[in-house]
Amino acid sequence: MTTLAELTAAPATAPIDSSPAPSNAVRDRLGRPLKSLRVSVIDKCNLRCTYCMPEAEYNWLPKADVLTFDEISRLIDVFAGLGVDKVRLTGGEPLLRTGMADLVRRIAAKPAITDIALTTNGVLLAPVVDELLAAGLNRITVSLDTLQPERFRAISQRDSHSAVLAGIYATAASGSSNFKLDTVLERGVNDDEIVPLIEFAKTVGAEIRFIEYMDVGGATKWDPNRVFSRREIVERVAAHYGGAVPMAAVDAAPADRYQLPDGTTIGIISSTTQPFCSTCDRSRLTADGMWYRCLYAQKGVDLRGPMRGGDSDELLTAQIASLWLLRNDRGAEDRLAATERRAYLPLSTLKADPHLEMHTRGG
Ligand code: GTP
Ligand code: 5AD
Ligand code: SF4
Repeated sequence: MTTLAELTAAPATAPIDSSPAPSNAVRDRLGRPLKSLRVSVIDKCNLRCTYCMPEAEYNWLPKADVLTFDEISRLIDVFAGLGVDKVRLTGGEPLLRTGMADLVRRIAAKPAITDIALTTNGVLLAPVVDELLAAGLNRITVSLDTLQPERFRAISQRDSHSAVLAGIYATAASGSSNFKLDTVLERGVNDDEIVPLIEFAKTVGAEIRFIEYMDVGGATKWDPNRVFSRREIVERVAAHYGGAVPMAAVDAAPADRYQLPDGTTIGIISSTTQPFCSTCDRSRLTADGMWYRCLYAQKGVDLRGPMRGGDSDELLTAQIASLWLLRNDRGAEDRLAATERRAYLPLSTLKADPHLEMHTRGG
């Protein structure tokens, strides 16, 4: 495991000032501020989507290593001191962790955090959505890859389609104003559902985003021929609706938004063919307190050890700041440059370190 000291060893270059951010925001070598923290609260998931967790067995994080809500809350305060104002709660499946509304309430009480979002597969959402929103959750994103129950079973290897739809309907009924559906497209699997999914999203008041199949850690079945690209998505949408006009970007969000002639908006996340690394202001905290400066980073930094060992907030802040100053990751762009592209990490590597799995570092 890499220590903070090892990662701070290289000299920093002066950061470039290129985008608006709070005055306390620390910037990396490419001028990118540290604004968005993705907090994975659990590594387990109750689905086994073939693009994310296709294997029969996984090595889970030891329970004793999983951060308590007190520890998560403390680290969020430390990150907020460096410019983080957005927190996204992820998993695994975050709703498998009990008491999530309590965690949301604690984060919502922090003045520096202006945006709290949740990425969920929706299976356990229906009974808790109102409580989560009342606790201060600002945005909900539910993964939905298909409208067909049989296909759902094939993609997720579980029989939970009706529970997911119940979660989506409950979110629609809650009046949540910022509701998104995320669809990972795979050629030959669900690319024939682009139009039906857009129409469905309209009926529940959600914005749908289509995500290119990414060769992230854990996607052991990844195959470039299965990537349904942004260009193809736009062509398909424009052919059906009579146009799809690109909208101006408002922030560093990964989705490029398009407007259809009837005013409907959709997003496309083209991390595989057209990555957004140049504006990436996000980092990830795993459930056991490892911090990753890039989705594709093979090395993370253990924050749990120093925290449990008694480091002060000031020390943690200084260490995180010095590491962000050194950040020059652009994992998705590096992948694009790879000459022969196949699954990013072999199964043996993933087995040796589950932190390399997409489900451990948050989707
Ligand atoms: P906001 O910007 O807060 O709206 O969130 P988001 O759109 O990042 O949230 P979400 O969790 O819904 O992410 C959508 C998808 O974008 C993920 O499932 C990934 O496929 C992709 N994605 C998320 N984070 C990263 C990242 O750091 N790098 C890359 N290359 N892709 C990412
Ligand atoms: N490609 C693209 N997105 C993925 N996710 C997980 N694995 C992949 C992959 N291989 C994302 C999906 C899912 C979220 C939890 O993680 O967006 O909805
Ligand atoms: Fe950010 Fe790394 Fe994802 Fe690029 S690949 S967008 S740098 S997390």
